[in-house]
Formats: sequence, structure tokens, C-alpha cells
Amino acid sequence: MIKLDITKALISADKIAAFECKVAEAQKALEEGTCAGNDFLGWLHLPSSITPEFIAEIQACANTLREMCDTVIVAGIGGSYLGARAVIEALSNSFQWLTNKGETPNILFAGNNIGEDYLYELTTYLKDKKFGVINISKSGTTTETALAFRLLKKQCEEQRGKEEARKVIVAVTDAKKGAARTTADKEGYTSFIIPDNVGGRFSVLTPVGLLPIAVAGFDIAALVKGAADMEAQTGIDVPFTENMCAQYAATRNALYADGKKIEILVNYQPKLHFMSEWWKQLYGESEGKDGKGIFPASVDFTTDLHSMGQWIQEGERTIFETVVSIATPEHTLLFPSDEENLDGLNFLAGKRVDEVNKNAELGTQLAHVDGGVPNMRILVDRLDEYHLGQLIYFFERACGISGLLIDVNPFNQPGVEAYKKNMFALLGKPGYEKETEAIKARL
Ligand code: PA5
Repeated sequence: MIKLDITKALISADKIAAFECKVAEAQKALEEGTCAGNDFLGWLHLPSSITPEFIAEIQACANTLREMCDTVIVAGIGGSYLGARAVIEALSNSFQWLTNKGETPNILFAGNNIGEDYLYELTTYLKDKKFGVINISKSGTTTETALAFRLLKKQCEEQRGKEEARKVIVAVTDAKKGAARTTADKEGYTSFIIPDNVGGRFSVLTPVGLLPIAVAGFDIAALVKGAADMEAQTGIDVPFTENMCAQYAATRNALYADGKKIEILVNYQPKLHFMSEWWKQLYGESEGKDGKGIFPASVDFTTDLHSMGQWIQEGERTIFETVVSIATPEHTLLFPSDEENLDGLNFLAGKRVDEVNKNAELGTQLAHVDGGVPNMRILVDRLDEYHLGQLIYFFERACGISGLLIDVNPFNQPGVEAYKKNMFALLGKPGYEKETEAIKARL
């Protein structure tokens, strides 16, 4: 199991222990469904409720896409995108894009921005591809995703014919509502339902994440097993001091109460970049409301030690770091020795690259702690499906607890509506006439 190390968190045990009662209340409220946002608690026991039959159903659909497509576009944004990308990038060969010999479809992402160049370049690239689309949207009405899907659906039908396109377009959406559901039903697409009681950012273990991850060729049963094992290890019956989620939620809130307003999630493996993006969305949307919430930031080390490293070492002391540390890489690469030793690196000859990375990690922790930056570490044995499943559930449950510790509803996101209202008013969307008038008066 993954582990949490808080020995360098630079906060007294008493300050962490002060949260024990409140954590217990939060755990109870989650378990009994009495907290704010209690209609969105479907994620809590999701891993242990996923059946082998359901996994097989998703796998069967994934196999069809794998057989019929050389490229699969996952259209979605926020919670309907980041979890799948996080897992796929963490598990894929870093050069998959260049080395893929057609044994598995390339997975590309769309519907997560409105960049005209991005969509132009994507649709141009797809012109000679046998591509399929997974259209993911819980509401079924999200503009970014709907725009991309309209373009991709048309292109797929033009290139493959309507009949074949029907077989390679899959919808993951609400059971009844939204344009994505209407289209899927009308066109007869294979579709999967996003449960009503699972919010977007907690949905990676529903078909939202599982289907794209399976299409990419990864073992979704192992991912779910990892999450289910973590669910069992962090439940209400596991004592405060032994419960990773409780400890993480309490420690980060003790630090927050001590003036540490920014948490930086750190990795030393470039493959984890999108795991951090997923984590930022999970914590940012869950906690940032009512004028409260730790600001979630992230860095990729050692890359960002050559940019953000200076700020972290000596900037304003309002930050703490949580490092996701992977014990063993999947591959071994030794530094060769060199007779001339012109670069002076013979002291590393025969050592694994990871040994250098680990010493960079340790050296950075020592330096940052000396610089007054509290450090937590999440220790992960390997980057595989099982451990990623654990990591995902660990962060989800800790997030639910943590949001309740600051007395916000961790499961809504009212703030994300503000920009949409203005954008629709500016674009003259029918039904927004009053807002359009009001906004024009301000410009
Ligand atoms: O976590 C959330 O609820 C959001 O980030 C949504 O996932 C995001 O806005 C996309 O919404 P939808 O799935 O309805 O298209």
C-alpha cells in the first residue's frame, strides 16, 4: 500500500491531533450521508461496488474501439477529462506517440479548450486516420466539449460513413438529460451512464475514466482493485493515527491554520504531470469557495527546480509541499563510465539514473525544509494500475474529509458558472437576452 510520511511537515503533533474530532465527524457525515453535498457521495464506496461484469462490459467496448480505430479522441473537460489523461500518461511510454507501431490506438484529447488552432490542427491530423470518439460530459451541455464533438462527429461520419461512425462513437453521459444523451440515443451510439451521485472530479473510476484507460490498453480491474483496497484502509473504522486520509486532511488543514495557504504537489517523474493536474482540479473545485481553501499548485521536479525552485526556497513562506515519490522505476538505465571523463561524471558510473533522481529528491527536501517549507511525502512503490488506483482513492477521500474540515460543501462548484453566463451573454445565446443587455451596458 502507498504510505504517507508527515515527519517533515514542520507542524506539531498536537496541532494535527487537534483535528481528530472534526475528522471523525467528517468521516461519519460522509458515511451516513449527512454532510453538505450529500447527493454526490456515490464515489465513496464506488471502488468496492464495481463488479467484474461491469469491468467486462467496459472492456468489451474498449476492445471494439481498439480493433476499429488507430486513434481515439477523448472529448471532455475538467472531471470528464483529467482523470483519464492522468492515468494514461502515468502508465504510457513517454514516447508512445512516436514509437507506437499500431498495436494500440493513440489517445488524443479534445473538448478541453476552445483553441481554434488546436482544433484545426487536430482535425487536420485526423484526416487520414481511422479515428473514433469517446464523448464524455455529465451535463451533456458543456460548450468546450460540445463544440469539439460537433466537429469530430461530422468528420468521423464523412471519413467512415454514418454506419461505421456509429460503431466508433461512444457516449459517456447522464442517463436521461443533456444533448450528449439525446444525440447518443438518436444515433444509436453505445453509451455509458455517469451516476447521478458522482460529481465530475470524483468520476475517474466510472466509465468517464475507465473506458479511455481501457482503450489505451491498461488494466482497469487492477486500477479498481487498488482503489478498493485503499477504500478499505481509510474507512471510518480505521483509527485517526493509522488512517492516511485522515492524517493528510488533518495535516494540510493544520498547516493552513498556521498560515500556509498554498499546497504544491511535487513529482519527480514527468509522467505524473497530469496526475497533478487532476489533483489540482479535485482540490481546487472542492475547497475553493466561501472565501476559503488552500490554493493547489503543482511542479514537476527536477525540471521546475530550475524555475520555481528559487521561489519555493526563498519566496514568501505561505507554502507547503506534498511530494508523490515513486520508489522504483519500471526500467533500469545505468550511467556508463567514460575513459576521458571530460564531463567529470565518472563518480556516477555504474549508478542508476534513478539514484541521482532520488538524491535530488532528498537534497531538495532537506533544502526546502531548511528554507521553512513543510514537506509531506506520499510513498508509492511503483507506477502501475494498482498503485494509481490507491492514489486516486486516497486523494478523493482525503479531499472529501478536508473540505468538510473547513466547513465548505466539497461536492459543488457554483463558481464555475460565472464565466459561462458572461460567455453565453456575449455570444448572444438564446435565453440570455437580459444578461446580454446588462453586460453590454458594462462594456
Ligand atoms: O468536476 C466537475 O464537476 C467539473 O469539472 C466537470 O467535470 C466539468 O465542468 C465538465 O462537466 P460535464 O461533464 O458536465 O461536461
